[in-house]
Amino acid sequence: MDKLLANLNIMYTKIHNFHYNIIGVNALAFHVQLEGEYDFMHETIDLIAERMKAIDHYPKASLKEYLQLSTIKEVESKDYKSTVVLPILIEDYNELINNIEEIRRTADGVTCSVLDGIQENLEKKLWLFKIASK
Ligand SMILES: [Fe+2]
Repeated sequence: MDKLLANLNIMYTKIHNFHYNIIGVNALAFHVQLEGEYDFMHETIDLIAERMKAIDHYPKASLKEYLQLSTIKEVESKDYKSTVVLPILIEDYNELINNIEEIRRTADGVTCSVLDGIQENLEKKLWLFKIASK
């Protein structure tokens, strides 16, 4: 769960980067959509960290540790068009789903049920990102 928590924290910042720096004809709609995405990351970070505490697993809570543990990479602060952002988000959301699937192999039932809602949301967003990038 450490890797998932780290990646969620990277995504929280990375999506803010896109939210601030999106340009192009879809920028207004995308700016709003991305706000929903970083809010989701924020809520999910809390769910995962508190579930870890509940099962006696100490959650990492420093940016330094998140950067060391993450498999999702940050991006440069610069302007981005939605055609560039969408493939990045598709790759990153797939990675979060892979992290969840990995956790499920050894997790208890309650942890798996916490992960269900998160995965459902990620998969729905993946579908929307895919149709938006066609
Ligand atoms: Fe905002």
